[in-house]
Order: sequence, then C-alpha cells, then structure tokens
Amino acid sequence: MTSSDLSLRLARPAEATTIANLSRDLIEYGLRWRWTPIRVAASIRAPNVNVLVACIHDKIAGFAILRHGDDDAHLELLAVAPPYRRLGVGRQLLQWLEKCAVVGGMFSIGLEVRAGNEGAQLFYKRMGYRTLAHLPGYYQGIETALRMGRDLSCRSVDHRIQGIQYNLLGFGVLHVPSSRIERIDHG
Ligand SMILES: CC(C)(COP(=O)(O)OP(=O)(O)OC[C@H]1O[C@@H](n2cnc3c(N)ncnc32)[C@H](O)[C@@H]1OP(=O)(O)O)[C@@H](O)C(=O)NCCC(=O)NCCS
Repeated sequence: MTSSDLSLRLARPAEATTIANLSRDLIEYGLRWRWTPIRVAASIRAPNVNVLVACIHDKIAGFAILRHGDDDAHLELLAVAPPYRRLGVGRQLLQWLEKCAVVGGMFSIGLEVRAGNEGAQLFYKRMGYRTLAHLPGYYQGIETALRMGRDLSCRSVDHRIQGIQYNLLGFGVLHVPSSRIERIDHG
C-alpha cells in the first residue's frame, strides 16, 4: 500500500452497516453487539460526532468514531481490518480526528479499551495516550476497561495531514487546509 492508495473521509449513511459489522467483528467480539447499524447511522447524522473511514481502493479498511463534548472528546470506536494493520492506517485515522478535536477547541481525548486488548493499548501508548484508570466490569460486567487519555494542549498539530473536511449538514463539505489550522493554547 502506498500513501496515495489511502484516503480518509467522513462516512456516508449507506456505510453504517459495514461500519457496524466491523465493530461487531473486530471490537465487540464476545460482547453483546451495541454498535448496531442504527446506532452508527445516528452517529453519522449527529452534528457533534465524526465518523471517519479509511478507504483503500474504494474498500473500507478502517474507521473511527469521535464524539465531541463541551471541552473534551471521546473516541468511541477505532478499528482497522486485519489485512491493513501495521501500515499506519490507525495512526492516520486517529491523527485526523485529533486535529479535528484541536480545531473544535477540545482539551483532551479520552477512550476505553478492553483490558485484554494489549495490541490496541500499545498502539494508543505509541500515539501518546496514557492509562488513567482501570474500570472493572466496564464491558457488560464481563471485562475490565482501561481508560486512556491524551491532553491535546501539549501536542502540536501534525501538518503532514493536508487538511480537514467538515461535513456541514445541509451545506455540503468544507475543506480546511492545514495552513489555516492554528493551535490556540487553553489558558
Ligand atoms: C489497534 C489498531 C486500530 C491499530 O491499527 P493499525 O493501523 O494496525 O496501527 P498503525 O499501523 O497505525 O500503528 C502505529 C503504531 O502503533 C503501534 N502498534 C499498532 N498495533 C500494534 C500492536 N498490535 N502491537 C504493538 N504495537 C502496535 C506500533 O508502534 C505502530 O507503529 P509500527 O507499525 O511502525 O511499529 C488495530 O490493531 C485494530 O483495529 N485492532 C482491533 C480493533 C481494536 O482493538 N480497536 C481499538 C479498541 S476500540
């Protein structure tokens, strides 16, 4: 895979089932399926949620969902299909969303990851996230979660990403080149 094979864009409503199936198979295995097509479709429509897909040759290779709060964002889901792992797809998905969160004025990004998922924990550590808490039984009473987070006020925007496209509901897509994106330090 070359970098030109990979494109990142906001998900379309018609892709909700594909994304939900990836969540069921790659993230929620062994648990009750909570990220159903209806829930993913609602996230795609929600004004405070970014549902991002990574496409390789028109196929969805990975996706991520970030919910923006008042000050902090929450990474709801992130997964890359097995054939495309360790190629930087997860990194690009997360960096795109981090950049979006910085532009949106978020102070930090938090997430939960299954305690048994060491690969994902190593990925998040590599991406600058640190473990904040252990939450026993967080996953339907079956499995512990690690809460991890990253303070966005001590990171610089990675200008290697060319820009961000915002899907303004009803107004089409706004492309913001990275040259127009500035960090504003909070406090
Ligand atoms: C976690 C996940 C998203 C990583 O995606 P990816 O595209 O393979 O990650 P990247 O290639 O961008 O990895 C970036 C860096 O993170 C680290 N990393 C990623 N996966 C790792 C693993 N399994 N073990 C150790 N380190 C890992 C490495 O340092 C890697 O850099 P390198 O390949 O140059 O060594 C992917 O493994 C996945 O989808 N797992 C199943 C779903 C999941 O666990 N999601 C997260 C919980 S919601």
